[in-house]
Order: sequence, then C-alpha cells, then structure tokens
Amino acid sequence: MRAGLRLRRTITLSTIGCSVSKSLDRLLAWLPAESADRELARRVNPERLPRHVAIIMDGNGRWAGKRHLPRVEGHRAGIEAVRAVVETSARLGLDVLTLYAFSVENWKRPAAEVSTLMLLLKRYLRSELSTLLENDIRFNVIGRAEELAPDILQELRAAEQKTAKSSGMLFNIALNYGGRSEIIDAARRAIEAGIPADALDERRFGELLYTAGQPDPDLLIRTSGEMRVSNFLLWQIAYAEIWVTDTLWPDFRCRDLLEAILAYQKRDRRYGGIASAHVAAGAK
Ligand code: FPP
Repeated sequence: MRAGLRLRRTITLSTIGCSVSKSLDRLLAWLPAESADRELARRVNPERLPRHVAIIMDGNGRWAGKRHLPRVEGHRAGIEAVRAVVETSARLGLDVLTLYAFSVENWKRPAAEVSTLMLLLKRYLRSELSTLLENDIRFNVIGRAEELAPDILQELRAAEQKTAKSSGMLFNIALNYGGRSEIIDAARRAIEAGIPADALDERRFGELLYTAGQPDPDLLIRTSGEMRVSNFLLWQIAYAEIWVTDTLWPDFRCRDLLEAILAYQKRDRRYGGIASAHVAAGAK
C-alpha cells in the first residue's frame, strides 16, 4: 500500500504539468458557472498546490450551541462540510487530505456524544463510498484504529479495502489519533525491529509513522479560530503553513478551502533558510 502511494507520486510528478491543470479543470467543471467559488478557483495557481492539506475540524459544538441545538447536531451538520471538502480536494488534485475526526483525548466526552460520532462516521462511509470511488479517492485510517469498537473497525477496513485500487487522492481520516501516541508507536516499532540507534534518522523514523510514504502536510487548516495544534500530526507539521479561520466547521465549504489555498500560495516557505530572492541577491 505504501509502495503504491510512492509509485503514484512518481507518476504524478513526472506528468505534473498535464495532471495538475486537468485537475483544476475537473474542479471548474463541477462548480456552478458565475459562482463566487468558481471565481476563487480560477485564481488558484495549479503549479503551486499544496500536496497535502490537513484539517482540524473544530467548532461543531459551538455551531449547535448558537442554534440552541444539542452538540451532536453540530457533528451531524459537520458531515456536510466533510463531503464538500473531500470532493473539492480530490477535484482540485491534492495528493493527500487528512481530516482530524476523533482524537485519543475525545474519549473524555460524554458516552452519548462519542457513540453518535461513531454512528455518523459509519453512516458517512456507507453513503459516501460511491462518491469516493467515482472520484478515485483512496480511504485510509490513521490512529489506533484497533482500539475502536469492532463494528466501526470493520466498516473502516471495508472502506479501505473497497477503495484500495483508487489511484487519485489519498483521504486519511485520523481516528483515535494522537500525535504523541503516534510517535510512541513509531518508537516502539523501531525498538521491535531492532533498528540500531545510530541507524535511526528523520527519514527512517518517518517511515515508522502512520503516514509512512506520504508527503508531510504543506498546509494545516484549523476552523473556529482556535490557535492550537491539539496533538495533531506533531512530527509531520514541522514546516506546515498554518491557516486559521473563524468559520465553524459545519459552515466550512469549497470557498473556505480555496481561500486557505490562495493564502498558502502567497506564503514564502523558507524551511529555516532564507527567501530565494535574497539568495539570488547574495544576502548574508
Ligand atoms: C470538533 O468540534 C469536532 C470533532 C471532535 C469531531 C469532528 C467530526 C465530524 C465533523 C463528524 C464525523 C467525521 C467524519 C469524517 C465522517 P467540537 O465538538 O470540539 O466543537 P466545539 O469546540 O465548538 O465544542
């Protein structure tokens, strides 16, 4: 599976000019003519797309609270945002989309809220499988999935298996996920595999993470205005550009994703170095 992703990435990169512009066409054709979303999509530079976008979906409870509804109604409404963002991302031509759906800390929530979230996830998988397949999306779970209830795990594995041959966007769903637990799991794997201490470097350690073989997120989006990373992809977001919006997750749609991407395209990514213009000018 991991080797498959690497192979697809190579193919995408080797044909980048045509595959990227074709993807933007797929998005433009899908968006209503003369719509604001379409205008935004036209402004996206297909040659500077983030390869991996990761999203902390936050604000479902507040969305429901503002409407005097139970919190779970916010999660239910959040599913519509998930649908919109998954399809927009695939049509845009992203390589990887990762959504943070349930953290290792979320078990502290009331049991009824946890079971509704799991039920919504199950329903989502059943109702969206055809859309995932039509859009050539491969579904993948990251996190300690084996600790989830057997019926949920079975549903997740079935979706992974049914979409395993898709060669378009990889859709990671982070479930029972924690960045620190992921790092611990990777360290345990390294020890179990008997990797000598001096053979362990960043590349090799990255291959032991749940996201092995995937590019690190270029863009991390958080909704609802909170300025935290909440134990999400701690290793992988080392150089991610962060974009926070006040929009609550259930209201997040195509336009919000496009706005985030347009903002990302204006950023100067230096990875600890200096701006390329300064290099050309011989800056010290
Ligand atoms: C955070 O909002 C959101 C979550 C903990 C769950 C996100 C889940 C979904 C959108 C639905 C299921 C997902 C999929 C992929 C089918 P919050 O409850 O913490 O909001 P608050 O901070 O306003 O209380």
